[in-house]
Amino acid sequence: MKNHKTNAFLSATVFCLLLTFLTSSLAFSQATAALTSFQPGGKWLDTEGNHIDSHGGNIIYVEDTETYYWYGERRGTPRGAACYSSKDLYNWENEGIVLEKGEIEVFERPKVIYDELNKNYVMWFHYDNSKYLTAELGVATSDSPTGPFVVQNHYRPNGHESRDIGMYVEPDTKKAYIGYAADHINKTIRMAELSDDYLETTAKDVDIEAHCEGPGILKKDGKFYLLTSGCSGWTPNPATYYTADDIMGPYTKHGNPFVGDAGNNSFNSQPCFIFKIPGYKDAYLYMGDRWNGGGKPDSEYVFLPITITEKGGMEIHWHNKWDLSMFTPEKK
Ligand code: GAL
Repeated sequence: MKNHKTNAFLSATVFCLLLTFLTSSLAFSQATAALTSFQPGGKWLDTEGNHIDSHGGNIIYVEDTETYYWYGERRGTPRGAACYSSKDLYNWENEGIVLEKGEIEVFERPKVIYDELNKNYVMWFHYDNSKYLTAELGVATSDSPTGPFVVQNHYRPNGHESRDIGMYVEPDTKKAYIGYAADHINKTIRMAELSDDYLETTAKDVDIEAHCEGPGILKKDGKFYLLTSGCSGWTPNPATYYTADDIMGPYTKHGNPFVGDAGNNSFNSQPCFIFKIPGYKDAYLYMGDRWNGGGKPDSEYVFLPITITEKGGMEIHWHNKWDLSMFTPEKK
């Protein structure tokens, strides 16, 4: 009888241990299963298995460490700027919150660029009050890509309203530019050149007569392409692109680059940045937010390749799943 009881106890213990092992290894493998593709609009978890909370931001590549950093609005608590790191653009490790917004009522669309000369990471962002009427640019700095970033200033550039922003750094001259949705509640976009240390906007600041939000900029064969969304808050709308020979304009307006955009809503997304993927020829990554009508922390991402056609048009096609093998590696 005693033996029978001991055996039952032993088998129950072994069963429990096995169950614990199986469930924990399942959770582990779910959290660590490496991704090998982008799946636009799908669930995108970080390397710990949590939803990536990094909206309206941008990606940079740090050559020394061969690491990508993705910055964005952390819309969960505490709110501020999120930072994730990756070696391959698919798998992202949470580097934590790199700037807590604290007293800032609205902190949106952070974009980080690296000042190689002064070894300074500079973050520009949309600084506002809850009614979006302060309409300023904010700037913060850090000596490390993973922060902490410290706010240095916030103001209206040359007296103009500023809300959604895009950024572009010219690879040869290292000059940096901010495209910002500006006066009369985003009726136009202005382009401002930054000082050499990227800490201030200069007086080179023009109305480029583009409408309206979420500006993303790329350059191919000497031509600038500016992608913008319409102005409908968290609800997606059809995008428009513009081209120019000079980043300061004049710009020519074209149509909606989203091909087969049946919902007329940029594949249910709003542009936040265009990242030129290093190491590949003409590899432009469209980064868009799927706000799901509310700008909540669980908003999703639509990342797609941007094609510039032989005739010089911009096209963005839908892919359920895609990876970097669709680009041609650049010769070293
Ligand atoms: C959008 C803008 C977002 C956010 C939102 C607030 O148009 O692109 O960044 O400001 O409005 O409603």
